[in-house]
Amino acid sequence: PTISIINGPNLNLLGQREPLIYGAETLADVEALCRATADTLGFDVECFQSNREGAIVEELHRVRPFARGVVINAAGYTHTSVAIRDALVMIDAPVMEVHISNVHAREEFRHHSFISDIAAGVIVGCGVQGYEFAINRIAALRPATAQ
Ligand code: DQA
Repeated sequence: PTISIINGPNLNLLGQREPLIYGAETLADVEALCRATADTLGFDVECFQSNREGAIVEELHRVRPFARGVVINAAGYTHTSVAIRDALVMIDAPVMEVHISNVHAREEFRHHSFISDIAAGVIVGCGVQGYEFAINRIAALRPATAQ
């Protein structure tokens, strides 16, 4: 069973990008953390990052038939993208929304998400540990051993 991990724009520069807000870990570190967390729960992960909205939509279409859960940090597209929201709505498996920073303690434009109301859960401001929490939550909702 596979959990899809989707990271949006500018997250390829994690570690270099505003480290006081987003921390020192790189995207490779985040993906390794996801793999290790999923492994302990009996899941595989497929990790995807893109700076392009359409590529994220297409990845959601690709994983839709088989993903047992989706962890998405849509980054800036969280606050703008009806298209990513629409692609997520088509996914039957639980979708967990993650933000590394506490978006509610930042600019007003980050307070609204097009994803939160259709997500199974939302984790903000827990740093990259949020990805770990999200994978654990998917495993609790849909254990790897279940059909
Ligand atoms: C982010 C928060 C977004 O507002 C921002 O545009 C990002 C990263 C986070 O992980 O905290 O790119 O999703």
